Amino acid sequence: MSSQIDHLLDESRSFPPSEEFTAQSIDDPALYERAAADREGFWGDQARENITWHKPFSRVLDWSNPPFAKWFDDGKLNVAYNCLDRHVEAGLGDRVALLWEGEPGDERRITYAELTEEVKRAANVLTDLGIGQGDRVAIYLPMIPEAIVSMLAVARLGAIHSVVFGGFSADSLRSRIDDAGAKVVITADGGYRKGKVSALKPAVDQALADRNGEGEQQTVEHVLVVKRGGNDVDWNDERDIWWHDAVPAASAEHEAQAFPSENPLFILYTSGTTGKPKGILHTSGGYLTQAAYTHKYVFDLHPETDVFWCTADIGWVTGHSYVTYGPLANGATQVLFEGTPDSPHPGRWWELVQKYGVTILYTAPTAIRSFMKLGRQIPQKFDLSSLRLLGSVGEPINPEAWMWYREVIGAGKTPIVDTWWQTETGAIMVSPLPGITATKPGSAQVPIPGISIDVTDDDGNEVGNGNGGLLVITEPWPSMLRGIWGDPERFKETYWEKFEDQGYYFAGDGARLDEDGDLWLLGRVDDVMNVSGHRLSTTEIESSLVAHEATAEAAVVGASDETTGQAVVAFVIIKQSYLDAHSPEGLTALLRSWVGEQIGPIARPRDVYIVPELPKTRSGKIMRRLLRDVAEGREVGDVTTLADTLVMSTISSQVK
Ligand code: WTA
Repeated sequence: MSSQIDHLLDESRSFPPSEEFTAQSIDDPALYERAAADREGFWGDQARENITWHKPFSRVLDWSNPPFAKWFDDGKLNVAYNCLDRHVEAGLGDRVALLWEGEPGDERRITYAELTEEVKRAANVLTDLGIGQGDRVAIYLPMIPEAIVSMLAVARLGAIHSVVFGGFSADSLRSRIDDAGAKVVITADGGYRKGKVSALKPAVDQALADRNGEGEQQTVEHVLVVKRGGNDVDWNDERDIWWHDAVPAASAEHEAQAFPSENPLFILYTSGTTGKPKGILHTSGGYLTQAAYTHKYVFDLHPETDVFWCTADIGWVTGHSYVTYGPLANGATQVLFEGTPDSPHPGRWWELVQKYGVTILYTAPTAIRSFMKLGRQIPQKFDLSSLRLLGSVGEPINPEAWMWYREVIGAGKTPIVDTWWQTETGAIMVSPLPGITATKPGSAQVPIPGISIDVTDDDGNEVGNGNGGLLVITEPWPSMLRGIWGDPERFKETYWEKFEDQGYYFAGDGARLDEDGDLWLLGRVDDVMNVSGHRLSTTEIESSLVAHEATAEAAVVGASDETTGQAVVAFVIIKQSYLDAHSPEGLTALLRSWVGEQIGPIARPRDVYIVPELPKTRSGKIMRRLLRDVAEGREVGDVTTLADTLVMSTISSQVK
């Protein structure tokens, strides 16, 4: 890995924006100047320019009790009003908000006026179900317009949504519902995936069923169900309500109330270094300000003419900030797609770009690498000439994939913005501005105006250009997480304790600054893996493996993978009784599908190796570094701290 990184850091290609691009761009060097001169004043300007406040704020930032920030805290706003009503009031009601396409090819075009009306009706339904300010609503839906309607209806009421990715299992859903104490769940019978209906409601039923343990409280009173898949579902008359019965019958009158800027907007669970996912909490005014501001300038948005497409699912933060909140706050027109890139044919995405005239495409390196593998002849069958800007997010993009993206998808001329950020940061933090920055393949480059980033050593000292270290954020920012739901201590420990003296936020990413001061992201420095741009915790998968009767012990590592960035590789010790009764192939298949059921298919290990022992230090700590060497087919590193130095040769021989 490190030799590969050194190779990447030799990257000397640079692509300044074309004159034509710069001439039409809204990006202005004055943004950097203004932010550098008066950071808080700059954010105050952004909050006033991009957001409509029911009650103006008088103070930008209250950082008197770090790390608990308050932004624009005496201001009041309604987040949904900002994404909907105000555009209609400005005469833009006929502008298309969503160009939706279902996987089977069905279509819906929804204008801002229609979307506003639908959200008002849904808000009235939720009110009737007892939802008000501060209540939690879990959303477990496919990528259908109702997903966005649901998020905005919850936001409109000052309530808090917790969107759970539809690919998560019933168990994962249940722990998220319970942790947040959700009162209502919004789901669908099923959604389309790779040509088939994949059921969702049964997982909700299962998540809400068989509660027998201590302290297991059933908080959910109602389940609102969208009919999408047409699959048969069980029905609980007391609890379940069809969306199509309730929403169209509800009143389309609903006046948005103003809520304080710091009113919670959503909880989104993400993997941390322990087995228990963290409920990342975001609030309203600051979050919406930075989501809208970054969507506007990083994507050089021209809302009258652009067709934006962010391919992320709303179950991830990218879908929150760049499908729902950023684009809609900015009055943009966007594509929303239910399906996968390769169904029913491997050119489906490019067909959609051609069909809808997509001008800005925002996706993940893992998708680009899988298209690269399939070959350029597939995208080349389609007219992609509408594209003028490409974006990347979720993991480091290697220069080869970056160049392919620009040449094959972007006809050798579109700028590429490689955007670094996290669920916790809420919105983009590091990225070129496409009308200004000369881009460099593989580097996310520079903090956006208003954001202060540094790379430090373990003690918080700046490493300076040409050196590597840890990525830190040195000043608070508007869309920063406000905490971990129900766990303020974990919030402090995870992000703020490491650099307590400096008051820096620790991102958990390694990074390097090159000689030009451009930032190169080097992946996680903790026990978090990044598989296809999705965060997974090694500990969570290990807990799932040992929860199976067959497993005595397990260790999981993220091994580099050509397509998915990293892949989950598990080393397990199997109990003798199981070894006697099953074949190794049977056992590995069993454990792979077990993890898939327990957490979700994305967590399923690529490889499961059955080993007699795990490498441990004398104090009993598993040395994952050595297992990663084996998983990546490298010579095993220094084993001298192992209690038993022969273990690694046994494991290596097992793996070969
Ligand atoms: C990684 C996704 C390199 C990083 C928005 C971060 C990246 C984690 C990039 C957050 C990028 C995200 N280059 N690495 N452009 N963007 N990452 O919370 O390790 O799902 O900490 O948010 O993804 O993942 P999350």
